[in-house]
Amino acid sequence: MEKPTIDDMAVFCKRKGFVYPSAEIYGGVAGFYDFGHLGVELKNNIKNEWWNSFVRQRDDVVGIDGSIITSPKVWKASGHVEGFTDVLLDCKKCGMRYRGDHLIEDRLKIDTAGMSMDEISKVVKKHNIKCPKCSSHLEEPKKFNLMFSANIGPIVTDSSLSYLRPETAQLIFTNFRLVQENARMKLPFGIAQIGKAFRNEISPRDFLFRMREFEQMELEYFVHPDKTDDCSYIDEIKDCEMNVYTEEMQKNSKKMQKFSVKELLEKKIIKSKWHAYWLALMHKWFVGLGAKPDNFRLRQHMKEELSHYASETWDMEYNFPFGWKELQGLANRTDFDLKRHMEHSKTDLSLFDEEAKKKIIPHVICEPSQGVERAFLVFMFDAYNFDKERGNVVLKLHPKLAPVKAAVFPLVSNKPELVNKAKEIHNELKKEFTCQLDLSGSIGRRYARADEIGIIACITVDFETLQDNSVTIRSRDTTEQIRVRISELKETIKRMMEGKELKGLGKIVG
Ligand code: GAP
Repeated sequence: MEKPTIDDMAVFCKRKGFVYPSAEIYGGVAGFYDFGHLGVELKNNIKNEWWNSFVRQRDDVVGIDGSIITSPKVWKASGHVEGFTDVLLDCKKCGMRYRGDHLIEDRLKIDTAGMSMDEISKVVKKHNIKCPKCSSHLEEPKKFNLMFSANIGPIVTDSSLSYLRPETAQLIFTNFRLVQENARMKLPFGIAQIGKAFRNEISPRDFLFRMREFEQMELEYFVHPDKTDDCSYIDEIKDCEMNVYTEEMQKNSKKMQKFSVKELLEKKIIKSKWHAYWLALMHKWFVGLGAKPDNFRLRQHMKEELSHYASETWDMEYNFPFGWKELQGLANRTDFDLKRHMEHSKTDLSLFDEEAKKKIIPHVICEPSQGVERAFLVFMFDAYNFDKERGNVVLKLHPKLAPVKAAVFPLVSNKPELVNKAKEIHNELKKEFTCQLDLSGSIGRRYARADEIGIIACITVDFETLQDNSVTIRSRDTTEQIRVRISELKETIKRMMEGKELKGLGKIVG
């Protein structure tokens, strides 16, 4: 299998211990997945890299961790109770329920971005679209709210009704003033959060792509309303090039085009420097962690597709095996959310501009909103290589993401002196890296197993080790080996993790 489909990827992830259908022994539940011993490591590495890049290493961003169930008033103010809906098509005869835009996409192979309920109804009638399961007529479309409801407290009443959060963003807005005051943040600044989000998707599908429980990594970047273009970091990314698919290109069925950030701003394709900055930075983050730039494009939302809160949105899309799809949304949310929470909570969330001597409501010039599991898929697809010569998959994950960094093997498992030495080395290495000890199967089989889960360095303990305290290290990417002293092992693996070639770290052997 050279290029895996999404189903192949699901099978691979299950077989290797990355991801399992949730509660599979009871038949599973659509849209819910559990992460296995390798999946949890990869997922944590992705989240840590994101947090390090966009929170810890920046002076202008701080983080929060909000609650999953919160006052339902939050969701009324944000517009989710009223408007967070998809269009549902019911089949009265067999009871199947379909998401309107997905059914049309599947049947007619057309783009349904931004299609309203009325338009969906017209298309279904015009093309006589029937229930795919029993071929009966479908009911008139209905709006279906995607929020999962929950009851707070022991007595179920109208006032105990709440919701599981459908996005992490709102807790950032409700905490805005507290965070700004306590962290003493000055505009422009950002507040970030990583955490669970829940959506009762009508048709969860494509493995981790559309789930009912997932995680988001979100950042709200607040700027002064009169300074929405004053981005002092723009020079850092102005030469960054990205595939771009504008509204005009989509309307006129043109192909995407490559532009630098500088060109995007000069041609006014992207309106604000801040928005362009965050788009480029997020793109750079993926590429810096080994994703392939040709698989990415920035797609501008069509006017009719914009969310109720956004004035301009760009999706970073990825070329999934099932087509170009949203990987991350980057919306300009203006002052919509702070204003709505001010109105509904009767709390002042404005800031005082000392220079202009007036109150201002900051604008969210860009909200990069990334699903952790979609990022997980991207890194898996771009790392997945079937090596014909080796006859196995080599998962070339970036060293910072690889779930296991090193493996230690005794050359043969029936010699206690080799096994004991291997255990000793493993015990030492695991203090610093995620490290496996593999005692079973031929050495070739053990290398193949390590390649398949992306282990960067395989260390073999052989008879020479017992003579001179040296071991071989084999590189996942090249299969080259060098011999190093055990005392130099940690340092050598660290260099490999930094991307140094093995031949620069010792003499190639074997
Ligand atoms: N706060 C804005 C927001 O939530 P969104 O476009 O609805 O915007 C942002 O979601 C990101 O969350 C998406 O780009 C995607 O990466 C992830 N996401 C959304 N729904 C998802 C789902 N059902 N399953 C997995 N990831 C999802």
